[in-house]
Amino acid sequence: MGDKLEVRDLTQVFNKQEALHGVSFTVREGEFLSILGPSGCGKTTILRILIGLLPPTAGTIIKDGRDITRTPPAERNMGIVFQNYALFQNMTVLGNVEYALRVHRETRATARAAAENIIGQVGLSEHIHKKPHKLSGGQQQRVAIARTMAMNPEIILFDEPMSALDAATRLLLRKEIKRIQEQFHSTIVYITHDQEEAFALSDRIMVMDRGIIHQLDTPENIIKHPADSFVREFVIDNLQLKIDSLVKYVKVSQ
Ligand SMILES: Nc1ncnc2c1ncn2[C@@H]1O[C@H](COP(=O)(O)OP(=O)(O)O)[C@@H](O)[C@H]1O
Ligand SMILES: [Mg+2]
Repeated sequence: MGDKLEVRDLTQVFNKQEALHGVSFTVREGEFLSILGPSGCGKTTILRILIGLLPPTAGTIIKDGRDITRTPPAERNMGIVFQNYALFQNMTVLGNVEYALRVHRETRATARAAAENIIGQVGLSEHIHKKPHKLSGGQQQRVAIARTMAMNPEIILFDEPMSALDAATRLLLRKEIKRIQEQFHSTIVYITHDQEEAFALSDRIMVMDRGIIHQLDTPENIIKHPADSFVREFVIDNLQLKIDSLVKYVKVSQ
């Protein structure tokens, strides 16, 4: 499949400090691409530039062959899901999702029907009239995902959406995100610092540190042919540690 997004030579300077040093990559149509790297390596900065919240110091963003580097956020047809849900606390689940659709100028009747439909798809029909504080963290994140999906974006950006959730909820939501992608054929750019999550979800993983890309490849190729010592240590050694601790646990419980 073709390239949905092409990022060329993205550079970002904050207070005379360069946070991104000329980053280039492509995201294919329908691909699930994870950006994996330690805190402070520039992941959120890339996402803010992609969605149009931050004009890059230098570099170009091409979507479907068109330069969108200076296109306003509302015209990019991208949706974003943040770590902290960013829901309206004074609105119900239905209100939150409906609001997004009304902003997109849908009529009241079609917005209501579309909102109810998508809320059902993320398994929250019975909570539709509750306010966010009555829901668990995992349920709130589902509302945020429903709100983003309701706008039918071509590209969905996730910024560490699981960071505030417990391990069991993460596993459930992981399946949910994968299912949603398969259903909607969305192109996804998913930020995480969790190696296991990146390997479980991604078609390809972009491994970053300190504003540069160390490797962009399939999970299998990263394991088989790590590009350098950073990838070996940050990705493979950490995965190995997790596997070792699981194996120990399985042995103890037998
Ligand atoms: N608005 C800002 N002003 C100044 N420095 C920033 C700003 N946003 C990010 N940075 C710096 O840029 C670097 C990358 O940050 P960020 O993209 O948030 O990393 P990540 O999401 O990978 O944790 C960090 O050193 C951070 O301190
Ligand atoms: Mg971040």
